[in-house]
Parts: sequence; structure tokens; C-alpha cells
Amino acid sequence: MAFEKVCTLDDLWEGEMASFEVNGHEVLVLSIEGGDIIAYQGICPHQDILLIEGQFDGKALICRAHQWIFDAKTGRGINPDDSRLVPYPVRIEGEDVFIDTEGITPEFSHI
Ligand code: FES
Repeated sequence: MAFEKVCTLDDLWEGEMASFEVNGHEVLVLSIEGGDIIAYQGICPHQDILLIEGQFDGKALICRAHQWIFDAKTGRGINPDDSRLVPYPVRIEGEDVFIDTEGITPEFSHI
């Protein structure tokens, strides 16, 4: 396991998102409704579009390109419902947010 610090809790308020390159992975970090920090693959599983360019309201994440919608808490696709975002392990130490990319492979549908 190789957790890497990406930001602090103060950088990411509830309902906000940020994208980081971690060990060659584009990782999207979300502060979801309720304040939990969750990380997913930062590139849309549909095509090669950065999810940080989409919309996020604390509950759902919408890709800007073709409006695929994902549940921010689970990463599951809402529309289409057979898609998903692959999560990355998150560790919080004090105010610092760490992400681990080891052994994680983002999902792409190549439609
Ligand atoms: Fe994200 Fe098509 S690239 S919905």
C-alpha cells in the first residue's frame, strides 16, 4: 500500500470536487453530502473526458460530454445504470487526505 497525500480537508468543502494525478492515475476526489471524502477514477468510463469538467452537487456527478450520471456515494451509474466509477482507497490523517492507487484499474466501456 502506498498512500499519497493529495490535499487537505480544508481544500475540499462539502459538495466540492478536485482532480489529482497520483502515480499516473487521474483521481477525482469528492466531498459528498454529509462530508465523507470519496475518490474515483477521474476519467469518464464512457470516453476520454475528465470528470472534473462535469457537474457535482454533493449527491450526483454528471459528465459534461454526454451527461452520464453517477451516484457520488457508491460510484454506480444512474444513467446508464450498467456503468460505474472505480473507487480508490482514501485515508484521512488529521487534516490530510491520502489516496492509494496500487492495484486499481479504472473502467472504460469503449463504446
Ligand atoms: Fe462521459 Fe460520454 S464521455 S458521458
